[in-house]
Amino acid sequence: MTDLKTGLSGAVEAAFAALGLPPELGRVTPSDRPDLADFQSNGALAAAKRVGRNPREIAGEVAERLAADPRVAAVEVAGPGFVNLKVAEAALSARADEIAADPRAGGELVPAPRRVLVDYGGPNVAKPMHVGHLRASIIGEAIKRIYRFRGDVVVGDAHFGDWGYQMGLLIGAVMDEHADIAALIAKLNAQGADPQGPIPPAFERITLADLDRLYPLAAAKGKEDPAYRDRARKLTAELQAHAPGHYLLWRRFRDVTQVALERDFHALGVDFDLWKGESDVDHLIEPMVAELHARGLLVDDQGARIVRVAREGDKRELPPLLVVSSEGSAMYGTTDLATILDRKQTFDPDLVIYCVDQRQADHFEIVFRAAYQAGYAAEGQLQHIGFGTMNGADGKPFKTREGGVLKLNDLIEMARDKARERLHEAGLGEDLPEAEFEDIAGKVAVAALKFADLSNFRGTSYVFDLDRFTSFEGKTGPYLLYQAVRVKSLLAKARDQQAAPGPVRVAEPAERDLVLTLDAFNAALVESYERYAPNAVAEHAYRLAQSFSKFYAACPILTAEPDVRASRLTLAQATLRQLEQALDVLGISVPDRM
Ligand code: ARG
Repeated sequence: MTDLKTGLSGAVEAAFAALGLPPELGRVTPSDRPDLADFQSNGALAAAKRVGRNPREIAGEVAERLAADPRVAAVEVAGPGFVNLKVAEAALSARADEIAADPRAGGELVPAPRRVLVDYGGPNVAKPMHVGHLRASIIGEAIKRIYRFRGDVVVGDAHFGDWGYQMGLLIGAVMDEHADIAALIAKLNAQGADPQGPIPPAFERITLADLDRLYPLAAAKGKEDPAYRDRARKLTAELQAHAPGHYLLWRRFRDVTQVALERDFHALGVDFDLWKGESDVDHLIEPMVAELHARGLLVDDQGARIVRVAREGDKRELPPLLVVSSEGSAMYGTTDLATILDRKQTFDPDLVIYCVDQRQADHFEIVFRAAYQAGYAAEGQLQHIGFGTMNGADGKPFKTREGGVLKLNDLIEMARDKARERLHEAGLGEDLPEAEFEDIAGKVAVAALKFADLSNFRGTSYVFDLDRFTSFEGKTGPYLLYQAVRVKSLLAKARDQQAAPGPVRVAEPAERDLVLTLDAFNAALVESYERYAPNAVAEHAYRLAQSFSKFYAACPILTAEPDVRASRLTLAQATLRQLEQALDVLGISVPDRM
């Protein structure tokens, strides 16, 4: 199955080839003047330059060859040498029928599926989430779904931050607050207890609230007080050496955080396939260090061990990868490098996509180069997909009103409150059972947050504006949900009246426009896929909702003649399926009614 745009590109390319011109110049694009044409090809201009001929003349010859194509209703030469194409109604109708019958709503599969791992979200034990994590989760989830929908074998991994300095900080802070826990840790270490054994009840007293409270205090103290910092580093090294007392307490930290995070992420429609942590590659680090050493990649540097990654021709000097710190600890980059090795051994990905804040671009460049040098991945298999920040009204990374970092849970609650308010304002969902209303409010909230993020190109920063994000009007998630629900209720009404869908017969301009929009879904998917940019699909979803809205206003459905009604119902059905599919790959789900 090919879309009209690709099919027509093929026809124009063939015409170019037949005229002895470079075929690739023939490619068509959607017309700049939809009132005059559906597609245009500007290739005659470039071709004319290459062969030293008049562009209008070339365009005329191309047009002549296309005139006989049954898909083409009219072909014209315009301006300096554009070829304008209008698609035949029969071809539009056939394409609409094809999309309507396709369970994938016109979205095609890649010819050769790859194994893709998406590393996204990147939450940490104890350290609160910041806006970078929110965007990483939203964008990463969408990329994961887009890749999966196109047929790749995709695994999403949270790459839980559970093995760094913050662990030592927390262990110290808990010991300071609970003398009994400190004593128990010492005892367990002295006994050589089993680190994998059951977690002692005394440790189970530590809750997520404790971690939330202790971490910022300990982090601040560590910044001011070198002795405090040194102790935290030492505790981190001891944890990494599997001191049983440290390790058992750390397991408690990990468990309570993961349970809470999984719940919050789920509320945002973000679900990871894997919750592997930095700690999960711990066993690989020693052999990896030995191997790097044996291969001459590891260099001693003032007590630390590093891999140099600078390359000739670098515009600025990239620092080396710090593999083992002078305290003997594994660093953030060490676990990242070992994770590449682990993924190769356990999943053997063709591509790893790291969806992480742009501020970590250097970190990834350094780790990737080290991995390529070590042969853990082939050049180009590791991709860092960075993004801008979500800012507050002051233009700086978003903070809560109290000036703190945002908690995912609070953000979702805030968005839900606003969603309820908006639903009431619009008089939506009020006569529905309470539980259903709550479900709808949750979906509206998630749609608002995600669509606001995904409708921007990921590289751009945007301003957090919950009022705008949750509006049912404009380019918003809630607007799209509302439109989708409107189509659902139209289709339900048609079923009640026993009006069945039937073959499409495109006639009205609004119908043409709707079918051309439906036809563009695959191109949007391909663009999002190739550029790691979900905004192309977001843009498409919005355009589709708008096209449908115009069609709905211009073309009566249930009151039309039976054949016309059947055709329009098929268009409505195809629209709904494609809109839901587009939203689904963005990680947004549509309620049944509102
Ligand atoms: N936990 C990290 C942070 O909060 C993000 C992890 C990103 N993924 C990775 N493989 N390093 O900054």
